[in-house]
Amino acid sequence: MTISLWDKKAIFFGGKGGVGKTTCAASFSLLAAQRGIRTLVVSTDPAHSLADIFATTINEEGQLAPNLWGYEINPQKEGARYMERIKTQLQNVVSPIIMEEIQRQVEAAYSAPGSEEAAIFDKFIDLLERIETEFDLVVFDTAPTGHTLRLLSLPELLAAWIEHLIAQREKANRLMSMAAVGSRELKKKTDKPDPVLATLERREKRFRRTRDFIVDDQAASFIFVINAEKLPILETKKAIGILDKYHIPVGGIIVNRLLPPGEGGSFWARRRELERQYMIEIEQEFGSMILAKLPLLPDDIYGREALDKVVQELAKQITD
Ligand SMILES: Nc1ncnc2c1ncn2[C@@H]1O[C@H](COP(=O)(O)OP(=O)(O)O)[C@@H](O)[C@H]1O
Ligand SMILES: [Mg+2]
Repeated sequence: MTISLWDKKAIFFGGKGGVGKTTCAASFSLLAAQRGIRTLVVSTDPAHSLADIFATTINEEGQLAPNLWGYEINPQKEGARYMERIKTQLQNVVSPIIMEEIQRQVEAAYSAPGSEEAAIFDKFIDLLERIETEFDLVVFDTAPTGHTLRLLSLPELLAAWIEHLIAQREKANRLMSMAAVGSRELKKKTDKPDPVLATLERREKRFRRTRDFIVDDQAASFIFVINAEKLPILETKKAIGILDKYHIPVGGIIVNRLLPPGEGGSFWARRRELERQYMIEIEQEFGSMILAKLPLLPDDIYGREALDKVVQELAKQITD
């Protein structure tokens, strides 16, 4: 049985750049907040426009409306914090002499590609862990498709990788205790619990928990925003295929920026005809997944008054 969108704990908005992800994530979050759901809306797109659309600034985290808070993940800041955390953790397990060298290596690793991604991912898990205590729902306004799919596939990949590290560490520990037979000094050492192993196991549990959470269709859902145009349709088809591979549930599709009926010359008649053809394709491809169809509004979406128009449309169409 599928449960109502309003009972989910995390909803991701994805899709091609410019289709209206931020607009839809912000409006959906406002609607949830109005329904009494304590909501946190998070932007994982390094080019944030979440606070902008509310015509405000939040400086990382701040309140946007009653029952609604916003969080913009800052990759540089998260990267630096992440590095500090790792250094502190290491300090507890290695001797001060090699600490200096390790610090240099950690710093080098953190200017390497991929490290900011790791930091964003860590923050992502932190925010998910605030569900149920501080928030009922976390809505993610994500970066364009590729970036986000990678983020969502990380728990699976990292859990497997850490499992491998754990196996290696256990093997090394076993060899150590074998070598320690007969040496009381070594035996004392190897009998102590291994702090590195403990850290690895803690991280593995964290990744598995996240993985279990985002594949749970009672808890998490991925909503794609598309326009009635060729490329957003193609990209979304592909993305759904990839999410399927990782067993991440797709909760629906919002078709945004549909042309209003009306006059206009032959140019607009042509655009409307194109749109009609793409809508046929969208209905065939995604039919039952379509949650809402939103009109192109005369103004761009900036500030509460404009957002509220989209909220009203969503409220009419997303009823369960
Ligand atoms: N239904 C709509 N009507 C009018 N303008 C829209 C609509 N949806 C989005 N826009 C405008 O289109 C642009 C891109 O929307 P945005 O939500 O930022 O897309 P994304 O987050 O997918 O990149 C913004 O300028 C926004 O104001
Ligand atoms: Mg955006």
